[in-house]
Amino acid sequence: MDHFSLQHGQLFAEQVPFRTIADAVGTPVYVYSRATLERHAHVFRDGLADVPRKHIAFAVKANPNLAVLRVLAKCGYGADVVSAGELDRALAAGMAPQDIVFSGVGKTATEIRHGLSNHIGQFNIESEEEGVMLAQIASAMGLTAQAVLRINPDVDAGTHAKISTGKADNKFGVGLHIGPGIYRRLSTLPGLSLRGVAVHIGSQLLSLDPLEAAFGKIGRLVAQLRADGHAISHVDLGGGLGVPYRAGEVTPSPADYGALVAQVTRDWDATIQFEPGRVIAGNAGVLLTRVVRVKPGILHPFVVVDAAMNDLARPALYDAWHDFAAVSPDGQRMTANIVGPVCESGDTFAMGRDIDRVGAGDLAIFRTAGAYGATLASSYNSRGIVAEVLVDEDRYAVVADRITPAEIMAAERVPAWLE
Ligand code: LLP
Repeated sequence: MDHFSLQHGQLFAEQVPFRTIADAVGTPVYVYSRATLERHAHVFRDGLADVPRKHIAFAVKANPNLAVLRVLAKCGYGADVVSAGELDRALAAGMAPQDIVFSGVGKTATEIRHGLSNHIGQFNIESEEEGVMLAQIASAMGLTAQAVLRINPDVDAGTHAKISTGKADNKFGVGLHIGPGIYRRLSTLPGLSLRGVAVHIGSQLLSLDPLEAAFGKIGRLVAQLRADGHAISHVDLGGGLGVPYRAGEVTPSPADYGALVAQVTRDWDATIQFEPGRVIAGNAGVLLTRVVRVKPGILHPFVVVDAAMNDLARPALYDAWHDFAAVSPDGQRMTANIVGPVCESGDTFAMGRDIDRVGAGDLAIFRTAGAYGATLASSYNSRGIVAEVLVDEDRYAVVADRITPAEIMAAERVPAWLE
């Protein structure tokens, strides 16, 4: 459920007309709803009511905007970060260092030091080599790093290949069969307090079955590690819950997910950690755009909008579907291709799609753009970096300025020897 709805024939974000935002801020612009973010945060947590000890860390990569993180911090969420940049954002948004989990296969020594000096809650180690480095750095700093070992359970998440992370040939975590040996060796190192395991098999999961399979394997591993004499107090189950991108699409509910987790982890006697991203932010944001012109096509007309693949990369990267809706629908429909102005055919949001009729100058939104939207933006074709707005009931604020092409160019230099 979201708070973007038609009121008297006009699309609103909560109580703010999209038209007001477009007039004041320009387009394209991402628009987030605070009420929707908070609702999703609460629904996800409520789904886990039967999990007695839990920790929820928002996957910052899904939406790293400071104001969005602040909303979630106020909901009691921690952060799952994958870079020093994300770590700094989580801290700046007011998340407690203890509530921050640092994931990622390529943490550098500098990033590890940064996490340690900020006393973050946990490192999710993705290889033996990383664990050794973490132990060495922590020891040298006179600290002990809390950590879990990420396991690759070799489970097919049944999602797009580019966002699957738990298969044997994915780069993430260590294989189940070598996990216990790595765990044993790392657990002897000074500077490291290994307290459990982590798993995350992929994103936009539309079925709970792969999660059940992965969690089952993790449960058996936890039992084995305990039998080997290790104290396991934390198990991180990652994120991955899918969201509906098309009206009517059915996805597993947080309640169903929570029931599965409660049942599988019943006897684990550990703090269960979660790293949801998309399920919290996805449907809490839209990309507001204006139609530049409608150009006749050989099969269907091309609706050329002022948003492009550099603003919303998901269709180009993952063939993703984002519902399109006119801000002032006239009740008529049309079949069209929706494209951006960027000079490649990959800059296509939809082909031959049945949509609200729109014409030059009309405003429209792409829905479900609150996760992996603005954060994937680039300046390709020397376009600006898209602005972001947060709505809260009848007020709104620009929470990320548009970065203009001139500002981007100002960071570049022509060396003297070229002049
Ligand atoms: N934890 C870890 C270790 C992750 O790698 C991810 C996502 C998450 C949690 C959050 O997963 P979520 O709950 O959002 O599914 N750019 C792609 C998605 C990439 C996901 C990367 N990892 C997209 O737009 O679909």
